[in-house]
Amino acid sequence: MPLPPPCSIFTKILKHKMHSKPLPLLLTLLSLISLSHSSSFSSCPYQSDLRVLSLAFASVSNFCPPIPAPSRCDPIQSVLLPSENLTGSVSWMVLRNLSALRSLDLSGNALQGSIPGRFWSHPALAHVNLSSNRLGGALRFGAAQSKIILSLDVSANRFTAVSGLSRLARLEYLDLSRNSIVGVLPDDLPPLSGLRFLNVSHNNFSGRVDDMLLKKFGRSAFIKAGINIKFVDSAASSPSSSVIRNAQRKTIRKRSARLSLIIGLGFVALVGILLFCMLCAVRRSKKGKGKERKDVEEAERKEAETEGRWAAEADWAEPENDAAAAAAAFRELARLRHPNLLPLLGYCISGPNKLLLYEYMERGDLHQWLHELPPGRPDVEDWSGDTWELGDERRATLGDWPTRHRIALGVARGLAFLHQGWAGSGRAVVHGHVVPSNVLLAEDLEPRIADFGKSSGATPEDDVYSFGVVVMELLTGRAGWDECSLGPARGMVREGRGLEVVDPRLTTDGVSPETEKEMVECLRVGYLCTAQSPEKRPTMQQVVGLLKDVRPASATSSSASSC
Ligand SMILES: *[C@@H]1O[C@H](CO)[C@@H](O)[C@H](O)[C@H]1NC(C)=O
Ligand SMILES: *[C@@H]1O[C@H](CO)[C@@H](O)[C@H](O)[C@H]1NC(C)=O
Ligand SMILES: *[C@@H]1O[C@H](CO)[C@@H](O)[C@H](O)[C@H]1NC(C)=O
Ligand SMILES: *[C@@H]1O[C@H](CO)[C@@H](O)[C@H](O)[C@H]1NC(C)=O
Ligand SMILES: *[C@@H]1O[C@H](CO)[C@@H](O)[C@H](O)[C@H]1NC(C)=O
Repeated sequence: MPLPPPCSIFTKILKHKMHSKPLPLLLTLLSLISLSHSSSFSSCPYQSDLRVLSLAFASVSNFCPPIPAPSRCDPIQSVLLPSENLTGSVSWMVLRNLSALRSLDLSGNALQGSIPGRFWSHPALAHVNLSSNRLGGALRFGAAQSKIILSLDVSANRFTAVSGLSRLARLEYLDLSRNSIVGVLPDDLPPLSGLRFLNVSHNNFSGRVDDMLLKKFGRSAFIKAGINIKFVDSAASSPSSSVIRNAQRKTIRKRSARLSLIIGLGFVALVGILLFCMLCAVRRSKKGKGKERKDVEEAERKEAETEGRWAAEADWAEPENDAAAAAAAFRELARLRHPNLLPLLGYCISGPNKLLLYEYMERGDLHQWLHELPPGRPDVEDWSGDTWELGDERRATLGDWPTRHRIALGVARGLAFLHQGWAGSGRAVVHGHVVPSNVLLAEDLEPRIADFGKSSGATPEDDVYSFGVVVMELLTGRAGWDECSLGPARGMVREGRGLEVVDPRLTTDGVSPETEKEMVECLRVGYLCTAQSPEKRPTMQQVVGLLKDVRPASATSSSASSC
């Protein structure tokens, strides 16, 4: 049943009750109507805007709502609250409902939290000053989003990334200075033609700044803008740049042609070696190799049965004299079976050629998955729409929190299994090179550790440390951790500010306090694992326990149970 227009209800009830208590009734009615019909009841948007404003700042202390002016009816166009000692976090998506808002100045306060990308799809916002707060996370401007922002000052905050600025076609003033923004110059800058003021000083950009940029914005716009910034002569990149670029493109094309040729040849050679190996294996098995070989096969079959999934294996080629040791090592490796280890299906030694046969992992490695197919890649995804109304499966492929936790736990389980050593050897198998690119992902995103068993001289504690770094990378979404960058991040976790380093892609959509707690706890595991002194680090077995405790619900659902 369609509702009658609010005004008719209004007048009816008003006529009815006018004689009794007109004023309070009128006020309640006004607020009721403005709440439920703010779009259709447009004759006095000011009142509804006031309510929206109070809601938006509900968890901000020291916010004093403006005193309502009864005669005022035009919508709120500016919210200017500089240096009001505001602390807490603004509900940005509620604030976004002030649809006539043109100017927003919240500078010089102590506001926290991150700004959801969809906030920027505001239809009218032109001047934004959020300078000198404690805002963090990423600043993301999606496809259909605000093209009318003229000035944006987010200096002196804790933003860590910025994307989609190129969509702010009318931007004239941009101050990103004094943040921790990791980005690339000039790719991440808005269109330079309209820009009159720019400051990217004191950030973590990389890339190049040419003469033209320097001339236009001055050297002081690029003070300590990052460590890898190159200042280049624009002559090299202006008039004849297209010629150069074309030439570069040609070489790249040539190179990739050559590369595919090499790959093709490599493939042919591989097939050849495989065929050869199969032939020699068949010949040898015809000869019959006696008891020793049978024992090996027997043992393997048993293992295959207990695992229930390793039925089809490449036959072993028997080693020639000097390759015997290598073959023994491979055989030992091949017996290390765990759902979180990349299974060695077979190996083949033919003279100097050694060929290891692994199961193919469809999803590639963790590094690639985390950094090359990211959920928030602004140029691929539009953050403005309802792209987040996604099924579980799609969310998982976009790297949501449960998936990342499952990956961390899986890797921990695989390493714990390795460190136990397999029954026959009695000594720990140390990986020695635990990095995201050595963690492959199966179709269901279950992690499989690759490249194990080659370490020389590394200790289990070294693996724990490297695992801690993998956890940091999983949670912050940042690559390239070294002792230098790890220090500050560990500091944040120690001070209980872990949430500030969490990958913004994990929180853009808003997360529950429990999830926040889980992520912070998981960061603490990374913190423990990366302790300076090896004896302070937990064992992988303990790490498995810790990670299970972080998300108790997940521990039972995982397939691995052997450690
Ligand atoms: C700012 O607010 C905090 C509480 O939120 C208060 O303790 C402090 O005194 C205020 N500072 C000023 C300068 O008003
Ligand atoms: C914003 O306004 C729309 C209707 O105008 C309403 O449906 C929505 O709930 C409001 N959102 C918030 C967060 O207040
Ligand atoms: C933003 O506010 C700060 C301090 O309140 C001020 O210094 C700065 O000039 C403002 N930025 C713009 C673009 O108006
Ligand atoms: C950003 O740069 C500062 C120095 O300019 C450095 O101390 C900090 O570790 C860097 N952070 C990251 C995440 O690269
Ligand atoms: C940019 O910001 C830095 C740090 O606040 C400041 O030193 C520099 O003068 C600013 N440059 C311009 C062009 O405003």
